Amino acid sequence: MELQGKLAVITGASRGIGRALAVILAKSGCGLLLTALEEDELISLREYLATETGIEVASMPADLVNSSDRQCFLDWIGRQKNPPDMLINNAGAGYFGRFASSRRIDIERTLTLNIQVPTLLIREILPVLRKRPQAKIVNISSAISRLPYPGLAVYGAAKGYLSSLSESLAGEFAGSNISVLCFHPGFTETDFMSSAGMDIGKVPKFLVRKPEVVARRIVRAIKNDVTWSYSDLSSRFGIFLAACLPHRIKIRMFKELFWRLPDEA
Ligand SMILES: NC(=O)c1ccc[n+]([C@@H]2O[C@H](COP(=O)([O-])OP(=O)(O)OC[C@H]3O[C@@H](n4cnc5c(N)ncnc54)[C@H](OP(=O)(O)O)[C@@H]3O)[C@@H](O)[C@H]2O)c1
Repeated sequence: MELQGKLAVITGASRGIGRALAVILAKSGCGLLLTALEEDELISLREYLATETGIEVASMPADLVNSSDRQCFLDWIGRQKNPPDMLINNAGAGYFGRFASSRRIDIERTLTLNIQVPTLLIREILPVLRKRPQAKIVNISSAISRLPYPGLAVYGAAKGYLSSLSESLAGEFAGSNISVLCFHPGFTETDFMSSAGMDIGKVPKFLVRKPEVVARRIVRAIKNDVTWSYSDLSSRFGIFLAACLPHRIKIRMFKELFWRLPDEA
C-alpha cells in the first residue's frame, strides 16, 4: 500500500510501538488520527509531528475499554474532514501472574482491550474502509499468540484470538479493496513489560528490539501488502519450533525458557 496521502487511525499511539509507528507513517506522508489514554503524551506527539513533518495529525484521548469512550472516539473519527484508509489496532496490555490468583478486573480488562476493542473497531470502521479506493486493517498481535507462556495466559490467549480473527478476515476480504496485516512483535523495549509486572532486563539482549525497529518492520509489511509478519527471526523461528514440538515438551520448554512464575522465584 502506498502511504503518501493516506489517513491512518492508530490506537495506543502515545508511546512504544504505536508512537514509533506514528512517526514513521507521518514521515512517509500519511495523515494520522491518534488515540491513547493520556492526553498530554498525544499533544506532545502531535506538536512534534507538526514541526518535523508538517503532516496533519489529530488526536483524542479515550479509554477504549470503556464503551462510551469508545463510541465517542468513533463519533470523533466520523466528524473528521477526511475518512480513514487504514485502522491500526495497536493498543494492548497484559498482566503477569498465576491464572488462579488473577484479579477478575485484570482478566476482564485484558480480554476487553485485546479482543473486544480491536474486533468492534474493525466492525464499526469497516463501512468507511469499504468506500476507500485501497484500505488496510493492521492488527498488532504478539509472538506469544502461538506459544504457551505461563504467567501471561490470558494475554497470550487474547492475542491468539486476534491472530485468528486476522487470518479469517484476510480470507473474507480477499479480492476486495481491503487487505489485512497481522503483525507479531517479539520482546520490544517499551513500557509494556514493566506495566505487566515483568522485567525486560531478564530477557537475553539478542531477543529484544527497539520500538523504532519493530515499527519500521510493520511499515515495510504495510507497504508490501504482507498478510502475516514477525518483528524478528527469533520470534518466527520460536513459533516454527513450537509448532514442531510435542505439546508436553513445548509446555515444559517455554516454562523454563522465560520466567519462573512469581511464587516459584
Ligand atoms: N512490548 C512488547 O514486548 C510487545 C511484544 C509483543 C506484542 N506487543 C504488542 O504491541 C502493542 C503495543 O505495545 P507497546 O509495547 O508499544 O506497549 P506500551 O508502550 O505499553 O503502549 C501501550 C499503548 O496502548 C495504550 N493503551 C493502553 N490501554 C489503553 C486503553 N484502555 N485505551 C486506550 N489506549 C490504551 C497506551 O496509552 P497510554 O500511554 O495513554 O497509557 C499506550 O499508548 C500492544 O498490542 C502489545 O500487546 C508488545
